[in-house]
Amino acid sequence: MAKINKNYSKLKPSYLFREIANRTKAFLEKNPEALVLRLGIGDTTEPLAPSIIKGLKTEVEKLANKKTYTGYGDEHGDIRLRSALKDWYKKRGISLDVSEIFISDGAKPDTSNISSIFAPDTVIAVQNPVYPVYVDSNIISGRDNFVFMPCIANKNFIPDLPEKKADLIFLCSPNNPTGVVMNKKQLKKFVDYAIKNKSIIVFDNAYAAFIQDDDLPRSIYEINGAEKCAIEIGSFSKSAGFTGVRLGWTTIPEEIEIEDGGMGALNKLWSRRKATMFNGPSNIAQEGGIAALSPEGLRESAKIIAYYMENAKIIKEGLEKIGLEVFGGVHAPYIWVKTPKGISSWEFFDKVLQETQVVGTPGEGFGKYGEGYFRLSAFGNRENIQRAVKSIQKNLKI
Ligand code: MLT
Repeated sequence: MAKINKNYSKLKPSYLFREIANRTKAFLEKNPEALVLRLGIGDTTEPLAPSIIKGLKTEVEKLANKKTYTGYGDEHGDIRLRSALKDWYKKRGISLDVSEIFISDGAKPDTSNISSIFAPDTVIAVQNPVYPVYVDSNIISGRDNFVFMPCIANKNFIPDLPEKKADLIFLCSPNNPTGVVMNKKQLKKFVDYAIKNKSIIVFDNAYAAFIQDDDLPRSIYEINGAEKCAIEIGSFSKSAGFTGVRLGWTTIPEEIEIEDGGMGALNKLWSRRKATMFNGPSNIAQEGGIAALSPEGLRESAKIIAYYMENAKIIKEGLEKIGLEVFGGVHAPYIWVKTPKGISSWEFFDKVLQETQVVGTPGEGFGKYGEGYFRLSAFGNRENIQRAVKSIQKNLKI
C-alpha cells in the first residue's frame, strides 16, 4: 500500500504566499470594484534590461537553427556563466574555481534541496522570522531538530549565535523579511562559530545587489575563513528581474571540510545530486544570465535596482510620516513595519487590506518572532507604490 509522506501534515496547510493570494482573492470576490495594490510577495515588475533581452533572444535564435541548436547542457551550468560568476566574485576579492559554482533554476529550489547532502539528524539553526522555505523543506524531509535564532528589534534584528549547538546554519543577508543587513563583524561571529563547532553555514545572498554601502558584505566569502565553512546561494531573480525567467547558483568551495567526509565531500555530493536530479537550467535563461553579468547588463540592472530602492524610500518615509515604526528598506527591498497598538500581524493584514486595499505580508507568516510586524515589498511599479502609500496615509485607521 502506498502511503503519503506524513511530514506534510506538520506544515501549515498553505504556503505563506499562497495563503495571501487566497485571502486577496476572497477579498476581491466580495469587493469586485476594489483596486488591490500588491506589496505582498517580493515579485519584480519592471522590464528586463535591454542587454539581457538581447541575450535571451540570441539563445532563442540559436534554438531556431539546425546548426546552432543545443539540447541538454552541463547539469552544473554553462561554463561561460560559471566563469562570469567567478569573475563577479573576483571583483570582490574572492577567489573561486568554476568547479565550485553550480548554476540552478533559482535560489528557492537550491535552498530547499541543499539539506539533502547532510545527515537526517542534522541540527538546523534558522533566523526567526525566517524565509519559510528553509524550515518547511527540512520538515518535509523529516527533520525536526531546529534551533531558532530570534531577530528582535532591540538587537536591530541581528541574530545571536545559536543557543544550542547547530550543525547547519541558514543565514539570509540582506534579510528577508526584516530588510536588515549584517555587517562584516556580525557575520565573522558566525564564521568563527562554524569553524569552532564544525558547522556549515548556508548563506542566502539573493538580495546582495540591493546593498548601498560598499563596506557591507555582498558575499559571505568576504569574511576570512568562510571558504572553509560556508555554502552560498545566489539568485538572478531580484537583481536582474528573473523571478519568471528562473536562474540562480550555489557555491560550494572545495576547502569546506566536513567531519565525516573530509575536504571536498560536500562539493562532490552536490555535484552527484545535480547529475541525478537536474539537467541544468534552461539554456535561454543562462544566456540571459551571461548578459546580466556583462558590464552593460550590470549597469542597466543597477538602474532598475535603484528604482526599486527609491520605492523602498517612498514606502519607508510615507509610513514614518503617519507615525508607524519602520525598519529595513535601506539595503534591501523589504520594509518591516511594527503593527500599531499591538495588533496581531494577520489582523493588521486584514485591516490594511480592508481599509486601504493594500496587500502586505503578515510577519507571523515568517515565524513566531515575526508576530507584531508586517512586511511591505518595494518591488512594484512607481505609480502603484505611490498609490499604496497614499491610500495607507489617507485610509488606515490607527
Ligand atoms: C518573498 O516575497 O519573500 C520572495 O519573493 C519569495 C521568494 O523569493 O521565493
